[in-house]
Parts: sequence; structure tokens; C-alpha cells
Amino acid sequence: MITRDQAWELLISKMQNQNLRRHCLSVEAVMRALGQHFEASAEKWGIVGLLHDGDYEFTKDDPGNHAKLMANWIRELGETDPELLEGIESHGWFHQGKLPQTQMQWSLFCCDELTGLIVACALVLPSKRLSDLSVQSVLKKFPQKSFAAGAKREDIAMCEEKLGIKLIDFVQISLSAMQSIAPNIGL
Ligand SMILES: [Fe+2]
Ligand SMILES: [Fe+2]
Repeated sequence: MITRDQAWELLISKMQNQNLRRHCLSVEAVMRALGQHFEASAEKWGIVGLLHDGDYEFTKDDPGNHAKLMANWIRELGETDPELLEGIESHGWFHQGKLPQTQMQWSLFCCDELTGLIVACALVLPSKRLSDLSVQSVLKKFPQKSFAAGAKREDIAMCEEKLGIKLIDFVQISLSAMQSIAPNIGL
């Protein structure tokens, strides 16, 4: 399997936008935590999170190729792990009307949107610091559809049905993971 260093090098060679890189780092941190939660490979889940959007600057006008292109770049590095490659590709299945299949794929699906909501919740705090954000304040913003309207609540809420994790616990796991890398994501 490719190393985290290789994955990071690949990401920064393909993605220049700092906010997008920070989004990838956020999803990496949460996916690592979810991998640990499910007693799976935190390393592999983290790499899937880190790279899931890595081709965005190349595919933003070609959504059908989103995540597929990244999977191909990793294959070119010699990667053959089907779980890792499919995990990344699953992020683009939405465009083909296909749903995630595995626990790892559903984890990516649900936390992708939640990281955006958490960032938005931090940015309206006076300190704009993740360390000052509580699970309760994220949950308070959850039903307010006009707040961070792009963060699809129904996708996040799938954590209960598809992962067997209560929303409050899903927010807790994700917020803690993001707080642990706050300086790396400018929060
Ligand atoms: Fe994406
Ligand atoms: Fe994403």
C-alpha cells in the first residue's frame, strides 16, 4: 500500500487550493478516527480520506470522472489494494447513481459533509477556534438548513442507519479528530 507520505506528495502535486487541501486533511483525520472506531486499518482509511477529493481541480467540470482520476493516479504509483482504490472511487459513485457499499465507503460518505458543517460552526465563533467548539453547538446548527446549506444533513444523518453510530457520537468522533489537527487546517 502507498504510504501516507506518498499520498500527501501526490495530493499537493495535484491540488493547489489551500482550503481544498484543508478539507482533505479534515476528512483524513475523521476517517482515521472512524477506522479506529471500527477496529480497521486507520492508516488505510486515512489515506482514502486524504485523497478522496485530490483530483477536484482536474475534474470540477467533469464530475463523472471525479475520484476515478485519483484512483488511476494511485494505480500508476503501483497501488493494487482493492479496498483502498474502491474506497476512493466510491466517492464518485454518486454521479453514477450508485451508493457506497462498505463501512469504509459509508464512513467517507457521511463524514465528507460533516467536516464542512464543523468548519462553518467554528468560523462563526468569536475565536474561530475548533478548540472552542462543542458537540452541542454543532447539533444546534444541524437542523438549521440555511446555515452551511451546502453541508447535506441527510447524508450526515445516514451514519445512524449505515454505520450504527448515533449522530451525537458521530459528531463527537469527528469533532475530536478535527480538533487534534486544528493547526494544520488553520482553525
Ligand atoms: Fe468530492
Ligand atoms: Fe470531500
